[in-house]
Amino acid sequence: MQNTTALSESPFELTYRLLFERNPLPMLVYDRDSGRVLFANLAAAKCYGHSVAQLVELHLSDIHHAEDWPRMEEHMKQPATEPLQLRVWRHRDREGNAIQVEVETEDIVLNNRRASVVLVRNVTQRYKDAERLRQEHERLNAIVNASNEAIISTDVDGRIQTFNPGAERVFGYSAEALFGRSVELLLPERFRLAHANHRAAFAGTHSPPRMMGFRIFKGLRADGREIDLEGSIAQVKINSGLVLITILRDVTELLAADAERQDARTQLSHLTHRLMSQEKDLVKRTARVLHDQLGQSIAAIRLTFEAMGALAPAKLSSKLQRLDTQMHFLIDQAIQQMRQVLVELHPSMLDEHGLAAALDNEMRSRALRKSSMRLVFEVAPEVSSQRWESACEYAMFMIAREALENAIRHSRATLLVISLRGNAAELALAVQDNGRGFAADAKTKLGHLGMAGIMERANSIGAHVEICPAQGGGTRVSVLWKAAP
Ligand SMILES: Nc1ncnc2c1ncn2[C@@H]1O[C@H](COP(=O)(O)OP(=O)(O)O)[C@@H](O)[C@H]1O
Ligand SMILES: [Mg+2]
Repeated sequence: MQNTTALSESPFELTYRLLFERNPLPMLVYDRDSGRVLFANLAAAKCYGHSVAQLVELHLSDIHHAEDWPRMEEHMKQPATEPLQLRVWRHRDREGNAIQVEVETEDIVLNNRRASVVLVRNVTQRYKDAERLRQEHERLNAIVNASNEAIISTDVDGRIQTFNPGAERVFGYSAEALFGRSVELLLPERFRLAHANHRAAFAGTHSPPRMMGFRIFKGLRADGREIDLEGSIAQVKINSGLVLITILRDVTELLAADAERQDARTQLSHLTHRLMSQEKDLVKRTARVLHDQLGQSIAAIRLTFEAMGALAPAKLSSKLQRLDTQMHFLIDQAIQQMRQVLVELHPSMLDEHGLAAALDNEMRSRALRKSSMRLVFEVAPEVSSQRWESACEYAMFMIAREALENAIRHSRATLLVISLRGNAAELALAVQDNGRGFAADAKTKLGHLGMAGIMERANSIGAHVEICPAQGGGTRVSVLWKAAP
């Protein structure tokens, strides 16, 4: 206040002056025509960061936020009786920081001039808090709205309060249509009663907020179609009332796809089974034809040729001599090649002597061809003489053969160990090399079907395969088969 030291002040006037000066609420008086601040109290000075003396030097435009000033100017032009429309303004303090204020004004006449008494309430903090809350609310809303999952909140009686767009998509209802209605509407009729009981029991447990997952259950869409759902329910307290929040995912298609995949697997496994038995048969028959017919023919050729040799004159021309040598060589080569094909084709010892003997034989024949790799076969004597059903022995043999072939071709290993363990009820085969191992994606190389073959053969006899890095480097292929209980 400018003239606080008026000597003629009466006790009455002093009281009123103090009431203004020391009022805990910021107060200003301004001239409505000039816009100059006429009086200000201590609380106002504190609010704007000026001293009282500085404040009364100011024009209203100095304490208004630049963006709000035109509106204030407009207001000041109004007749004095016009009530102030907007009570929330942005002012600014000495540093120029915006302060949010709520004002109440009373128009007065002071020394024949139009003036206004203004009561200012600094609501900046409240405003900021409200704004933060609003943004938080908006963010949460956005999350709920953007969620692909159905988010449904109900009160303890199961009346729907929130039904997000995800829920609208899953159930085919609009949120308005369901607001306040029973959540049991979203279940097929036969489950409603049980669900209502569950819900009541869940809401009745007065423990702290808790959550419960659902196993897959049936839901009912607006169009009457039943769907498979999974999700969870949580219990939270909001404003002392209990709210149940259910989050659901429509897994109908997922389940259908799963079932389809499972079917396809089963079919594939049947197919492999059949192909394997056909392969076995075909190989056996081909081997028999090779051995019994082609083998006999070659043997006959050799005999005939030898007979011809006996009949030939003792001294052959050098040309005939060369042809004779070449013929011997070709016949030997044909026999050799046929034996090789027979070995390749048919695990000859498998049927007669069993898996261990056939594997041992296979390894020996490989060892002859791959001398840079030490091949070890680990098998206990009691396992050597054990027999398993023919499909199982055959699949295991073919798996071992592919794994062995892979190790020879790809691993650059110096040591390969095949081990066979088990008894009548189970059989464990492991093929392990100490080579370079292989990249994770090698198992599914396009056009390379060895690994897939291993998987499928195992699958067809219900065995479990693992193809993984071996301890200390290299690759380990292990197969475990168990007899059906
Ligand atoms: N023991 C192994 N060591 C290193 N790499 C291997 C081994 N076994 C398989 N692989 C890798 O896996 C790939 C796929 O094997 P496979 O399906 O049998 O096809 P293919 O033998 O015809 O290449 C091979 O090309 C090779 O890169
Ligand atoms: Mg291979």
